[in-house]
Amino acid sequence: MCGIVGYIGSQEAFPILIKGLHRLEYRGYDSAGVALLNDKGELNVFKTKGKVANLEKFCESKDISGTIGIAHTRWATHGEPSDVNAHPHYSQSKNIALIHNGIIENYLTLKEFLKNEGFSFKTETDTEVLVQLIEYMKGKYSCELYDAVQHALSQVEGAYAIGVIERGRPDVLIAARKGSPLVIGIGENEFFLGSDASPIIEYTKKVVYVEDEEVAKLTRDKDLEIRNLSDVVVKHDVQELKFSLSEIEKGGYPHFMLKEIFEQPKALKMCMNGRVNEQLKEIKLSGIIDNMERFRSAKRILISACGTSWHAGLIGKYLFEYYCKIPVEIEVASEFRYRNPVIFSDDILIAISQSGETADTLAAIELAKASGAFTYGICNVVGSSIARATHSGTYTHAGPEIGVASTKAFTTQVAVLIMMSATIGRQLGTVDNQQYLQLVEGLETIDEKIEEILQQASKIEGISKIFTYARNFIYLGRGYNYPVALEGALKLKEISYIHAEGYPAAEMKHGPIALIDEEMPIVVIAPKFGIYDKILSNVQEVKSRKGRIIAIVTKGDTQIKELADYVIEIPESIDSLSPLLTVVPLQLLSYYVAIAKGRDVDQPRNLAKSVTVE
Ligand code: M6R
Repeated sequence: MCGIVGYIGSQEAFPILIKGLHRLEYRGYDSAGVALLNDKGELNVFKTKGKVANLEKFCESKDISGTIGIAHTRWATHGEPSDVNAHPHYSQSKNIALIHNGIIENYLTLKEFLKNEGFSFKTETDTEVLVQLIEYMKGKYSCELYDAVQHALSQVEGAYAIGVIERGRPDVLIAARKGSPLVIGIGENEFFLGSDASPIIEYTKKVVYVEDEEVAKLTRDKDLEIRNLSDVVVKHDVQELKFSLSEIEKGGYPHFMLKEIFEQPKALKMCMNGRVNEQLKEIKLSGIIDNMERFRSAKRILISACGTSWHAGLIGKYLFEYYCKIPVEIEVASEFRYRNPVIFSDDILIAISQSGETADTLAAIELAKASGAFTYGICNVVGSSIARATHSGTYTHAGPEIGVASTKAFTTQVAVLIMMSATIGRQLGTVDNQQYLQLVEGLETIDEKIEEILQQASKIEGISKIFTYARNFIYLGRGYNYPVALEGALKLKEISYIHAEGYPAAEMKHGPIALIDEEMPIVVIAPKFGIYDKILSNVQEVKSRKGRIIAIVTKGDTQIKELADYVIEIPESIDSLSPLLTVVPLQLLSYYVAIAKGRDVDQPRNLAKSVTVE
């Protein structure tokens, strides 16, 4: 979703801001803009619909000088994507410029109030209301910009991360947050601002994460000052970023998504590092060990997440019920938060999120906390809002995921869930020695097995080209591979724009079978264990209706091979670890179909990487 960049220091701000906007492109956006104060203190705002490259072109003949500025990529919520609705927004006098992520929920009430006070509006956005409100407060209290921002924000309901600058004040940039993430980078006599750390990492590793209802003053040649809305000084921790610039670059791959698919063996190793002990044949997750009494006494686990993370959570349900014998309920966070769910104080809510910023998942956590439940986060982004809001948790350590389509985040989330169920099950005595050893040894070799699948990339590319004609796809799986069917379908639709649905294979007879004809591609995930015979029957049902079958099978399979039109082999594994393997060919299939159709895989239309509004 929207991206924020800001700079104040001794360097020219424009190149830093533009580079920062490029780094934030992965979040998804539809317009971009920049505001700069030149050395005469004049405030210049330039903004355009479309890509950051358009903005650069637009600025070619403009005054882009200045060592202080703010910039933004907008993902439209209030008002269509257009030049005028793009950020930064000016106040009425054009003395103040503001960028904003989030939604001001009471903006209509505030707008009416401001209109009565003589303000007029050029846009339909909630953001313009906020900048006008700051100007109003400045007049009302005859105060500095910093105080005006505090007064304005105390009237605001909703979520915001903002950056504000003022004509004639090239020495100060104000930033504030509530609900939407905001990071300040601390350099040598300079500050950087970002909605995440990616525009900052190139310049400094020292960062401060702004907390809810805090207002920061970034003053040239002075120390960072942060106060809350009641004007009380807040102590801030300077933290060190743990990732490097190369991790957020493509490293020779044509797309981030492909890079991230190929990074999965390494990402899983990082995720298991220090947790899976090959010598001792042991799995140790400190987040679980430290809170074992909570897990021991839990009558129920609730899992809440969105999108791909929800699919990982569904695998988690199967794992916890099988290995730990704890009942699990899983629900999409946006439903969970609004249906008055029954939550007991001895429940545990596990929230799963790559970004750690998904608004609905965050709200599910707050709801569970309000009922006294223990909350546990599985996040990738270190220091993210969900990681901080939960009582405890486990990081996936997949490294930055830039492609909008989640890939390595999914496999590392599943790996964490496997490690959690093994650790809890071992402590509860519901996992026997043989099962435990199977899990440990299975995890130890999973990276090599994924490497083996990745070697089939060009074969999968070949298959994908045959199916670019398709307008629909069906994905079928059972047991642990039913969530993988859902994930395969989501991956295909979000980046290729082909309609795809995932089903538990036996559900096909209850409706979707009517769709099958000689045109319909059916992806069947059918590794050889457990209910293989059942899925074999499902494949036969598809075959007799002339569907075109792409099957994911275990190496050496002969029965499904005979029925399927195309086969992708995966190495042997146990049932519960198989999603870590079966999902990989599906990621590659989606990627290559999307490429063959000429889609923008890293920034698919209408999508945002981190969904910070509900
Ligand atoms: O950051 P999160 O894991 O909380 O994000 C949840 C979903 O928005 C995300 O998984 C989305 O479905 C991806 N685009 C899927 O590839």
